[in-house]
Amino acid sequence: MKRIALLGATGSIGRQAIEIIDSHPELELVAAASGAQPVDGIAPLTQVGGDLTELLERAQPDVVLNAVVGFAGLPATLWALERGVDLALANKESLVAAGDLALAALERGGGRLLPVDSEHSAVFQCLEGRGPETVESLVLTASGGPFRGSTREELVDVTPNEALVHPTWNMGPKITIDSATLANKGLELIEAHFLFGLPYERIEVVVHPTSVVHALVRFRDGAALAHLGYPDMRVPISYALTYPERAATPVVPLDLAGGLTLEFHAPDLDAFPLLALAREAGERGGTAPCAFNAANEVAVGAFIEERIRFVDIAEIVAAALETMDLSPARDVDELLATDAEARAVAAGALSRA
Ligand SMILES: NC(=O)c1ccc[n+]([C@@H]2O[C@H](COP(=O)([O-])OP(=O)(O)OC[C@H]3O[C@@H](n4cnc5c(N)ncnc54)[C@H](OP(=O)(O)O)[C@@H]3O)[C@@H](O)[C@H]2O)c1
Repeated sequence: MKRIALLGATGSIGRQAIEIIDSHPELELVAAASGAQPVDGIAPLTQVGGDLTELLERAQPDVVLNAVVGFAGLPATLWALERGVDLALANKESLVAAGDLALAALERGGGRLLPVDSEHSAVFQCLEGRGPETVESLVLTASGGPFRGSTREELVDVTPNEALVHPTWNMGPKITIDSATLANKGLELIEAHFLFGLPYERIEVVVHPTSVVHALVRFRDGAALAHLGYPDMRVPISYALTYPERAATPVVPLDLAGGLTLEFHAPDLDAFPLLALAREAGERGGTAPCAFNAANEVAVGAFIEERIRFVDIAEIVAAALETMDLSPARDVDELLATDAEARAVAAGALSRA
């Protein structure tokens, strides 16, 4: 029996996680939390907003599924890692912002960090049981979002409603906008760096419009292993929650005989500068990824509220990264200060956008 605490239970990942948990008698939902929506009756222990580590303390789960959106997920990530409680991580923002601290907590706690992001779950599975010296590089795939193929000029007038329609995945609003700007792939690049310990120059991003190949790992002998499946988050959620058993899911198998074309091409970094900005922030390290994430969260919120244009999101993130005095991320207080400062700088930049 695995006792699961589900944070972000009302969201896209949260609802799919409940479906998985309900279909497996060996999984028990002991605690559930949201930011504002009611969660009464979903689990024996529930909490709306506030400090989610209080709920985790009361629940003492075997697994924390962190499916909160944004930097707000950080305390729960660190709580689980520090205590050696298995962490099924959908909340990529916490690992991006606090990668070094999270890895140190993982080391001290001795638990498992199981990625739920589909690309990272794919890499994790392709790497399982293989020596790090055999790995040449990782390849993360990006659908390209709804504006794949558009030029920067064509992106100037796109609306939130257009950006909120994702071609292959049905997700919450923040990650959907991040997918449209390719900031999501930038966050995933940093997430992959911390999860798999590879330098950025050995992590490649390619556009793959149908999202059937979730990631590839290239090995030193010239072989590349890929993870394939229709885009359906229930697969990585189930994999993380039932690890290492790989329980059955209701997901339909790939129809290969029906014709499956796999197309890949390079991302357009001029039209989608947030991917390059994320790579720069990741390579800079320290508090830079935290600042990138915070400024992006503010800019995405403002775009959804129609206060800025789509193309301003990257400008605001770039301005925050340029203006701020970035340093090594030594402790959580330093990250909280960086997050707050980047939000303030980004908020200032909104008025000039
Ligand atoms: N959706 C996907 O397919 C997908 C795929 C890969 C990775 N992810 C990652 O998974 C995370 C969740 O994504 P999502 O698409 O499920 O988002 P979502 O649908 O917007 O759901 C977000 C969840 O977080 C909760 N929440 C927001 N702020 C909170 C706070 N301050 N404290 C506690 N809970 C809070 C929300 O509660 P309320 O409903 O009460 O606001 C909701 O339950 C993100 O980090 C995303 O990048 C998602």
